[in-house]
Amino acid sequence: MISVPKGTKDVLPQDSYKWQFIERTAARVAKTFGASEIRTPTFEHTEVFLRGVGETTDIVNKEMYTFLDKGGRSITLKPEGTAGVARAFVDNGLINGVLPGKIYYITQCFRYERPQAGRLREFHQFGVEFLGASNANIDAEVIMLASTFLKEVGINNVSLYINSIGCKNCRKKYQQALIEYLGKNIDALCPLCKDRLEKNPLRILDCKNEDCKKITANAPKILDYICDECSEHFEKVKKLLTVAKVPFKVDAGIVRGLDYYTRTVFEFVSDNIGAQGTVCGGGRYDGLIAQLGGNDVPGIGFAVGIERILMLLENTGVQIPNPNKVKVYFAPMGEEAEEVAFKLCTALREKGIVADFDHMNRGIKSQFKYADKIGAEYVAVIGSDEIASGTLKLKRMADGQESMVPFDSLIERL
Ligand code: HAM
Repeated sequence: MISVPKGTKDVLPQDSYKWQFIERTAARVAKTFGASEIRTPTFEHTEVFLRGVGETTDIVNKEMYTFLDKGGRSITLKPEGTAGVARAFVDNGLINGVLPGKIYYITQCFRYERPQAGRLREFHQFGVEFLGASNANIDAEVIMLASTFLKEVGINNVSLYINSIGCKNCRKKYQQALIEYLGKNIDALCPLCKDRLEKNPLRILDCKNEDCKKITANAPKILDYICDECSEHFEKVKKLLTVAKVPFKVDAGIVRGLDYYTRTVFEFVSDNIGAQGTVCGGGRYDGLIAQLGGNDVPGIGFAVGIERILMLLENTGVQIPNPNKVKVYFAPMGEEAEEVAFKLCTALREKGIVADFDHMNRGIKSQFKYADKIGAEYVAVIGSDEIASGTLKLKRMADGQESMVPFDSLIERL
């Protein structure tokens, strides 16, 4: 037997309705905010992520599925959605079109990480990218969109953390202060963070190592270093979130793991799914489009991990309604009854009612057992008496209640 590669999962027929529910809700909510869907290729030229995500990030350094194709080009399976969307936005001239461009996507992503609960090598994201606006009201709107989506799928127990990591200019000053402080404590840092000190000191702030956490607890705080414009921007985001009654906490430790972020960054975190508790992450990226060869067009977005959303729904007992459940299972007895069942089944399906009947020549008892297994709401028994009277016996499986229903009023009855 050949099993799936490590860190990947099959979505089985009995579970796919849950995915469809998440995807439908994502599309519906995104559309109410004026967004349209984009579909970009599963793989890009590696350069998109080197330039977009950033060469000092864990994703680029350790986690990308990169290979040479038969033409000798370096290709990478997308580890996230944003860089590809930004590339498509420039590539297709959308930066010269109507702005802001409001885009959403549902895509698989690939990262070579150590698999654990909520961390896969192939996973799925629902994301949005709003491109072209620098007003803080769009930051608040994007956060609202994420919050609305989470509520609409049935998640109420997540906390929103926000921060500002400033712009290119104020971040430089902050990085110097951070390097100075961390440099004095370098011996206590984990080997990975020692390496990060010169390359990407901000990342040390979200290291999960306990020794590093002790050091970073007293590190200089970025909000004390951001410039007046960044500070005003952040104040406006907070004000609008307060007006919209979206609860949040400011957390100076939220720095995000990708290089493209500027100013607002945010995460929705849950305590109910173990160590990988971040269900949604996002932020502003004002330099990304220019980094990929476009104009100086700002952007902001987020992505939620669909597997983590499903885990959270399951762990908190939220039931997703299954629209595929069979409404009526016909249990015919004999060949003539089978023809009647076939006809009635077809009539129900034409009205969009989920109906099914026996394909296995089972006896009547086993048909009931089967109907029970597939969770059918009703079983309709058809035998020679029923054919003679043009009436079937409809049994409601939940409580065993039986009623006689003429063939021609079945649809009306259901
Ligand atoms: P990210 O924080 O790397 O951000 O990923 C976003 C979400 O994807 C995470 O919060 C998590 O739910 C899910 N996720 C990430 N890695 C894995 C994994 N290995 N297994 C399962 N789920 C995972 C981004 O990707 C940015 N592109 C988000 C963004 C969009 N920022 C601006 N626009």
